[in-house]
Amino acid sequence: MTQPRIGLIGLGTMGRALALNIAENAEPLAVYNRTTEKTDDFIAHTKANEPALAERLTPADSLEGFVSALATPRAVIVMVDAGDPVDKVIAALRPLLNDDDLIIDAGNANFHDTNRRAAAAESEGWPFIGMGVSGGEEGARHGPSIMGGGPKDHWDRVSNVLEAISAKYEGTPCATWMGKGGAGHFVKAVHNGIEYADMQMIAETYGIFRDGMGRDAVTIGKTFAKWNDGLLQSYLIEISGKVATATDPDSGKPMLDIILDRAGQKGTGRWTVIEAQHLGAAIPVIEAAVFARNASSRLPLRKRGEEVFGAAPMALPEGALSDEVLEGAMIAGKIMCYAQGFELLGAASVQFDWGLPMPEVARVWREGCIIRSSMLNDMADALTEAPDDTLIFAPFFRDLIVQHIPALRQTVATALSHGLPVPALSAALNWFDMIRTARSTANMIQGQRDFFGAHGFERTDRDGKDYHGPWAMNG
Ligand code: 6PG
Repeated sequence: MTQPRIGLIGLGTMGRALALNIAENAEPLAVYNRTTEKTDDFIAHTKANEPALAERLTPADSLEGFVSALATPRAVIVMVDAGDPVDKVIAALRPLLNDDDLIIDAGNANFHDTNRRAAAAESEGWPFIGMGVSGGEEGARHGPSIMGGGPKDHWDRVSNVLEAISAKYEGTPCATWMGKGGAGHFVKAVHNGIEYADMQMIAETYGIFRDGMGRDAVTIGKTFAKWNDGLLQSYLIEISGKVATATDPDSGKPMLDIILDRAGQKGTGRWTVIEAQHLGAAIPVIEAAVFARNASSRLPLRKRGEEVFGAAPMALPEGALSDEVLEGAMIAGKIMCYAQGFELLGAASVQFDWGLPMPEVARVWREGCIIRSSMLNDMADALTEAPDDTLIFAPFFRDLIVQHIPALRQTVATALSHGLPVPALSAALNWFDMIRTARSTANMIQGQRDFFGAHGFERTDRDGKDYHGPWAMNG
């Protein structure tokens, strides 16, 4: 076997899957994990199950051994937990590497950390890429979506390998350089924010079916499976159908009925919301999804609330909502959510001078990642036509919104009037109603600000910025 040029550090679930993917679809590689038993276990497991791939792996039991196993110039993929562990690996690795050896952070890093690491790498004169990888274990093994950031010439050094291991959409690799510094990890964070929102809207619809219409999990799962043949076709709708129809082998009950309703989160959705606040970008559907996860985790509070105030959900009157109306509401909600995600990307692109390639972002999400869906191809087309415009104004999506807004309104109004919480779907509707209201109510906010703080306001009938109301006179 020729000496590998690529190495991978961190043999957790994602690291193992990515290593096998590289071995199978690109080239031989060296692997290393801080705990040697993990490396031994990975190699033994691969020898037993995929012996041809085991031949293409060079395990190392020390960082020094790992580095010397690699032909120069090296490329080292770091796949460890985001945060301090990445800094520790880089600090240990750098003294062992040459100046032109490339380090690639492929974890779910906060893009601020990636910006910081990229700046350090640039000033110290060594190559670094921060890259978001989406698709879970299955994606990492058989084709993830890859969003890269850092100097373009460093990306170009490994782009053939990254394209080879990535998912393909009709033959086009889903591996794209997004911009300098933390651009790739930022795009990945927005992906995850949209992931949270898509999941939440599906969960809300599940809640309407379950609590409003009294449907069982299997029936709901079959509806999701049916929707997966239409405009909502997506990985998340598909797996929601599978989750809902699965049976718990222990109890024989629907699996979904046994799963505790307390959602976890590693933080990327929250980062997206925090960053949107810094940038002044409106992403209420994603915010609502993060709120709903936070609320879900407060189980004792919710139990007490139900004891004190009574359960909120009430059965809907027969025929109040149909499957078609709910499907339409989801279509409208989904378009709003993606429009907001792309607006946030646009705001960040300007703020950080990234020049994010908007149509390419939509393209790289078409396959391999968790939010892959047929609608993303239409979004790529719309963003190719008008990269800086809000997605809902593209003719294709404008027509869909005109068609499905009544369904979203009917769904939200019906659900809320029966105590069924739909934070993400209602955030989508509120956002839509706000942005199609040319004369908003912020004149009242401006009047209030001027009254208590003399902050000044603009007038509708004159130019200039610093007008004041007659409040002083009135006391
Ligand atoms: C992906 C996912 C992945 C994410 C997990 C868990 O694109 O493959 O977004 O990166 O980390 O899905 O995320 P939460 O724990 O925050 O739900």
